[in-house]
Amino acid sequence: MPTPAVEREIESLRERLDSWNYQYHVLDQPTVPDAEYDRCMQRLRELEEANPQLLREDSPTQRVGATPLERFRQVSHEVPMLSLDNAFNEQDMLDFNRRLQDRLGAAEAEPLEFACEPKLDGIAVSLLYRGGVLERAATRGDGTTGEDITLNVRTIASVPLRLRGTGYPDTLEVRGEIYMPRAGFEQLNARARASGEKTFVNPRNAAAGSLRQLDAKITAQRPLQMCCYSVGQVAGGVLPGRHSEVLECLQRWGLRINAQSKVVRGIEACDDYYRDLASRRQDLPYDIDGIVFKVNDLELQRRLGFVSRAPRWAIARKFPAQEEVTLLLDVEFQVGRTGAVTPVARLEPVFVGGVTVSNATLHNSDEIERLGVRIGDTVIVRRAGDVIPQVVSVVMDRRPANARAIVFPDSCPVCGSEVERAPDEAVLRCMGGLVCAAQQKAAIRHFASRRAMDIEGLGDKLVEQLVDEGLVTNVASLYKLQRESLLALERMGEKSADNLLAALEASKKTSLPRFIFALGIREVGEATALALARHFGNWEALASASEEQLLDVSDVGPVVADHLRQFFDSTSSMAVVNELRAAGVSWPDIEVESADLPLDGQTWVVTGKLELMGRDAAKGHLQALGAKVAGSVSAKTTRVVAGPGAGSKLGKARELGVEVIDEAAFVALLASYGVSV
Ligand code: IVH
Repeated sequence: MPTPAVEREIESLRERLDSWNYQYHVLDQPTVPDAEYDRCMQRLRELEEANPQLLREDSPTQRVGATPLERFRQVSHEVPMLSLDNAFNEQDMLDFNRRLQDRLGAAEAEPLEFACEPKLDGIAVSLLYRGGVLERAATRGDGTTGEDITLNVRTIASVPLRLRGTGYPDTLEVRGEIYMPRAGFEQLNARARASGEKTFVNPRNAAAGSLRQLDAKITAQRPLQMCCYSVGQVAGGVLPGRHSEVLECLQRWGLRINAQSKVVRGIEACDDYYRDLASRRQDLPYDIDGIVFKVNDLELQRRLGFVSRAPRWAIARKFPAQEEVTLLLDVEFQVGRTGAVTPVARLEPVFVGGVTVSNATLHNSDEIERLGVRIGDTVIVRRAGDVIPQVVSVVMDRRPANARAIVFPDSCPVCGSEVERAPDEAVLRCMGGLVCAAQQKAAIRHFASRRAMDIEGLGDKLVEQLVDEGLVTNVASLYKLQRESLLALERMGEKSADNLLAALEASKKTSLPRFIFALGIREVGEATALALARHFGNWEALASASEEQLLDVSDVGPVVADHLRQFFDSTSSMAVVNELRAAGVSWPDIEVESADLPLDGQTWVVTGKLELMGRDAAKGHLQALGAKVAGSVSAKTTRVVAGPGAGSKLGKARELGVEVIDEAAFVALLASYGVSV
């Protein structure tokens, strides 16, 4: 017989583990280090093994069952699981609102309260709790009959095996979506690729495939999450009168709900919510395909009722499709700043991701081979957020008989120079260097850009004109431009010409990091330029540095060192630098901080969304200042930069007492080291 002390210890371990689980998976606020969690779990396993009579189905040790099923049992849904009506634009939303008001009459007319929630792109499931214990989990199926996937769902950490706290109805059926966060999906696919297995097309398919496993041990290894959005059957208890309050109850009882959910008043506020979330959609860690709007008052919901298979009181506003089918009309080749010859698909214009797309990058020959694409093919184009449109696949069974292979040019399409492919590169490059007008233009655009020499008024169109007219051939000749020759350009007035000359003059006073960056040396971005400037302090020291000396710089590896040396060894490149300096381009020297950069020896973590710079830029700045940038927070972390949406890393930092600063404070700190963002 187990002693009361053992019973107490088991109970206390279960409580602690359940509570940590809740903090971590439902509230996104981790409270203990993994090691501590694992130790308690191990201890509980040992105690339960020694005292099998104390084992319970809802113990945190009992998530993964031992024996695989032969098939899934069918279950019927007492309260049918419905679907939602769709809206595609603001007018559809206005119509929805009008229908609600017409049905409800004048009394409730203006303006209604709506619960707004992301429409998660996963699998709808029902969880049945009796006496607070998870009794059954089922898929939606056809809405009336689904499949019993209890054993699989029990393995999902954000699904409580028993409810927390008190006050829940005796029978409580909770509904929600099981989905796979994007990061987990990428990892799963990466592992599948590494071991030569089939990959999943998207996170939704991966979630569905993971739930369809007869062996729950496989499901247990998949990064699935559950998020709840409504209730079905309820008996032996009462719930509050509003949908949003019901969700709050669910969260208190240990179920995960969506952190983006919000209650608003009036249909215009629904549009605001839609626009806000649509703009942040790419930053969410999971895929959503729209927003669900629900009348928040449950009494009004009851009065509104249902039409066939969808409630009248809710609507799903869908995002514009991110993938569409179109025709590949032709492939052209563009030449970039470094001479890279990039194939660009000319497409039959198609509306995708909210804009009309007529070009998409095909990257390089490896990519074309991977896609197996030919001119004349029907292709699927994807545009997500601000990302450049991509050709994702070919619809093979629509290939016309006269489809043509894509042939790479054997000379530069712009200047006719030779093209070459480096042995270990997929990229074809024009060898014309600054003889090539395409490279000239790109180099000048880069030189003039805001973060480089910041020459105001020297836009893409003007660069195009200046090079085409032969007024400018390289960045140094910019400073030789004469007022008269500018005025001879089409659409160039006196004022614009004077402004441009003034801007050129002003740009001459610059800083060493900007100048290094502006030269457009391959692989030398802003952060590297800054690191080089701080390390060497002046141009002469940098330009005469050996490869080994260059490798001493925190941000520089063999490839970058090689590109730098090639630049400094090229007489034509150095002639341009000398011309620039002769024209008056100058900068103050920088105090050399070769041995100790200001953040030497520190370890930083960057998390959440940064509004002013990307996370990569932030990391680059930190590294250039000598800091290490780590992927996770530990006791060794010096500081954490946290933007909106920061999750578990922020929690961990708070727990460990690591200093956390927001983006504004970070920008101020960078500024104090002379770094402008
Ligand atoms: S409410 C009666 N809320 O969308 C209302 N559904 O087309 C039923 N879905 O099968 C659903 N996120 O799988 C609701 N926040 C959300 C949702 C959501 C995703 C899915 C759900 C349902 C489908 C309806």
